[in-house]
Amino acid sequence: MKELKSDISGFYKLSFEERQKKLAELVNLSPEDLKLLQNLGYFSSSQIDTLIENVVGSYQLPFGIAVNFRVNNKDYLIPMVIEEPSVVAAASNAAKMARRHGGFKSEEIKSIMIAQIQLTSLQDINSAKNELLRQKSKLLEIANEKDPLLNELGGGAFDFEIRELATSKGDMLIIHLLVDVLDAMGANTVNTMAEAISPYIEELSGGKIYLRILSNLATKRIAKSKAIFDKDLLGGPDIVEGILNAYEFASVDPYRATTHNKGIMNGIVALSLATGNDTRAIEAGAHAYASLKGTYSPLTKFQRDSKGNLVGEIELPLALGIIGGMTKIHPMARLALKILNVSSAEELSQIAAAVGLAQNVAALRALVSEGIQKGHMALHSRNIAKIAGVPDNLIEKVARKLVEDKKIRADYAKEILKRINEGENL
Ligand code: HMG
Repeated sequence: MKELKSDISGFYKLSFEERQKKLAELVNLSPEDLKLLQNLGYFSSSQIDTLIENVVGSYQLPFGIAVNFRVNNKDYLIPMVIEEPSVVAAASNAAKMARRHGGFKSEEIKSIMIAQIQLTSLQDINSAKNELLRQKSKLLEIANEKDPLLNELGGGAFDFEIRELATSKGDMLIIHLLVDVLDAMGANTVNTMAEAISPYIEELSGGKIYLRILSNLATKRIAKSKAIFDKDLLGGPDIVEGILNAYEFASVDPYRATTHNKGIMNGIVALSLATGNDTRAIEAGAHAYASLKGTYSPLTKFQRDSKGNLVGEIELPLALGIIGGMTKIHPMARLALKILNVSSAEELSQIAAAVGLAQNVAALRALVSEGIQKGHMALHSRNIAKIAGVPDNLIEKVARKLVEDKKIRADYAKEILKRINEGENL
């Protein structure tokens, strides 16, 4: 094959079909490959072509439902989009354990986003600061002119905070514009407002502004949830003790805390993706929040109550929206929100926090007892059978045998298939 050259000017100007054709030529795609690219599922080519750039196809992932969730005395079915087996099962499993004691209690959250404005090259930091504070109401008014509807609905820019940062390029003032974005994730709103007030800030302060962008560390949008996980459903006092030990381990070791938090994000990201939210923003915010005290820490906390049950708590920033962006455009995101039956971004974040906590408890319970591989690999065994070329009607049978024999490997799946085909009764 000829060496590929990736410098393709104007690729974006081609039509969707032309791009597919060009790609097929470039990397020598087979007719089957092309057919796969042409399968857009529920999208039309004109729809999908407007979502991102240089679109050549649609990429599908499983859409599952975690059950048993009760948050703030209301039951929910949780839509999850994720490629990893056992996550949906695990969330449902821990939600069932929390249900016995009333489910999850999530706190109220305001949808306040922070936009950062980086003010540099100041002659006199203090007088710039004072001047900005004096003109606060005018600055907020200019910001709010950018979104009158948000104002009408009770949201909008309502304050700013000024931070002073010493850098090797000199001292800077960082203005944090605070905006209540109500049911949106809010990135576009706050970025537009920050850009709108920046020229006036430069005029008032005599400084120069470079960045005007939201912070994904949404510390004014912290979701908190709590639940009691039944000791008997968890598997007894030793499991509770094990989870408390696992928590202590994560509290003092960033290597462990990273994996601990990854387990939490399994659930939160799957729900965020299902509802068309920005999963990178959620991940970045969560991990930064986990490091805010100077060392990377777990996002959950655990203790034992007087009856020996496990009490779990979670706290993290969650900038989730139910309007705007993909939440309204993507047909499955719309469906996910309908299934979830939420009426505000706050409610979505309260649920997401509960899902993160459940996910963490399920993983820790497995880790401190039979180990993660039993449940995880039992579910993964179906993938292994598929990869090994087992036909659909025999997948369950072969997967069961892989688990029974504790050999969850593609070569063993092939061997089992061969034995079945030779007439062995397995
Ligand atoms: P089990 O003990 O076999 O479950 O657990 P069970 O038969 O007692 O069922 C309990 C409930 O779990 C069920 O209730 C279902 O809700 C659910 P029921 O319907 O019977 O009333 N459930 C299932 N849901 C869907 N499909 C299934 C299924 N089986 C049970 N097949 C289970 C099995 C996998 C749930 C358990 O072993 C588990 O929770 N494991 C944890 C798995 C996990 O955490 N996976 C995440 C990926 S691993 C990872 O990336 C994170 C990690 O590194 C994080 C960390 O280190 O902290 C581990």
